Amino acid sequence: MPLLRPATALRALRSPSIAASTQQRPISSKAAALASPTNRLRNGLYGTLLLGLLGFGYIEATDTRSSIHTYTVPTLLRYIFSGDDVSRPGPEAAHVFGLRALNLAHALGVPLRERGDHPYLPHLRSELFGLDVNTPLGISAGLDKHADAIDALFELSPSIALLEVGCVTPKPQDGNERPRLFRLPISKSFINRYGFNSIGADAVARRLRERVRRYAREHGMTEEEVLNSLEIPASLRPGRILAVQIGKNKTTPETDIEAVKRDYVECVQKLGKYADVIVVNVSSPNTPGLRSLQAAKPLTELLGSVVKAAEQVERARKPKVVVKVSPDSDSRDQIRDICQAVKNAGLKGVIVANTTVTRPPELTASPQTSEEEKRIVAREAGGLSGPALLPRTLRLVREYRNQLGRDIEVIASGGVSSGKDAMDCVKQGASGVMGYTGMVYGGVGWFGRVAQELAEEAEKLRSRRR
Ligand SMILES: Cc1cc2nc3c(=O)[nH]c(=O)nc-3n(C[C@H](O)[C@H](O)[C@H](O)COP(=O)(O)O)c2cc1C
Repeated sequence: MPLLRPATALRALRSPSIAASTQQRPISSKAAALASPTNRLRNGLYGTLLLGLLGFGYIEATDTRSSIHTYTVPTLLRYIFSGDDVSRPGPEAAHVFGLRALNLAHALGVPLRERGDHPYLPHLRSELFGLDVNTPLGISAGLDKHADAIDALFELSPSIALLEVGCVTPKPQDGNERPRLFRLPISKSFINRYGFNSIGADAVARRLRERVRRYAREHGMTEEEVLNSLEIPASLRPGRILAVQIGKNKTTPETDIEAVKRDYVECVQKLGKYADVIVVNVSSPNTPGLRSLQAAKPLTELLGSVVKAAEQVERARKPKVVVKVSPDSDSRDQIRDICQAVKNAGLKGVIVANTTVTRPPELTASPQTSEEEKRIVAREAGGLSGPALLPRTLRLVREYRNQLGRDIEVIASGGVSSGKDAMDCVKQGASGVMGYTGMVYGGVGWFGRVAQELAEEAEKLRSRRR
């Protein structure tokens, strides 16, 4: 039997006489206590603190220059992805994860970016390939091989003025077997032998076209209007340049120059209209025979046909053609032959240089170098990247600049870790400076820091000249 019959219960709810005697006093005294000025102040303080913490956490998590992104995230990623990529996730898995995370944050509307103002910008404005750019800095090829994080990467910092995606091959190919990427954390370097893993030119072209279509929709334009505008760069961002790097398929024999030309020309035909710059890769040490294409005769033929294909691209502003050379082709004769081919073909620039197959002794010179790191340096084949490359980059930039004169851009790539390194490249004649390994070890705020340091170096130089 119910404690109260329904009618009585209703009356009890309405009638103060029944309820008041039992419950009202404790509730009202509790409410009174809660509403006391001390409590209100305390609750207000807690609320503000919580909101402050959430806000601080949000800003720390999305500001690329926060200490979380400088120190915690790179170390944490190395710790979590400490395997060999065969039995346990390793450096390659970290690479894939990092790009996905950047893309996800961007898609959710909370992109990682450099907050606050960017005091370096007025000091670093430059001109590259006839375009006004925010800075002379850029991301080297191989970080975004399949062009799937272009906007998330540009968003990281306005200092990233040049982004080179690829290498893209005409047909899809898997690249070499895993493991194919090795960390050398003490020397802050990598050895990689990816071997042009690519989703192929058609798939990359679809991605690039989708970007253009999205931009057209958002700006009330047609796709053709975007592509044929002389004001909108292929990066779709003022002050920024999008370069697409192309290579040949592994199955195309390097000795069959006609087949090699067909591979590169096919890439230009499919990708050229989405690029401000096309980079011809003949310098990867991980595709057998590729670097032999740097010899005078095949290089002249190859570059000539790429330039011709670029001139026929259906876009008002045609992509400029650039070649990326190997740091290991560094004899006087080799450099002279490459420069002759560059001039004969009418190229607009040279990227100096790629990873090296050499293993400079300073790589393992630190007493902290682990046995595992020594083993990797001694045994693993592939291209070395990181600070040990810098001396050679500087020497090569100077030699290429001397041979090419002022009308052809010389872009430095290899071993840059700081704004001072970037300034050293500029002093040797580089018109642009690219980085990759530095950012992986230094975190997503690395470019902003290098830009700030470079601006300070430029200011020092100016005041010394005054
Ligand atoms: C994992 C990895 C993949 C790379 N893939 C490419 C590539 O596909 N094409 C290319 O031209 N260079 C590639 N590179 C070389 C870089 O673009 C750059 O030239 C080289 O790493 C030297 O610069 P850094 O010392 O600043 O990293 C790759 C480098 C790394 C570490």
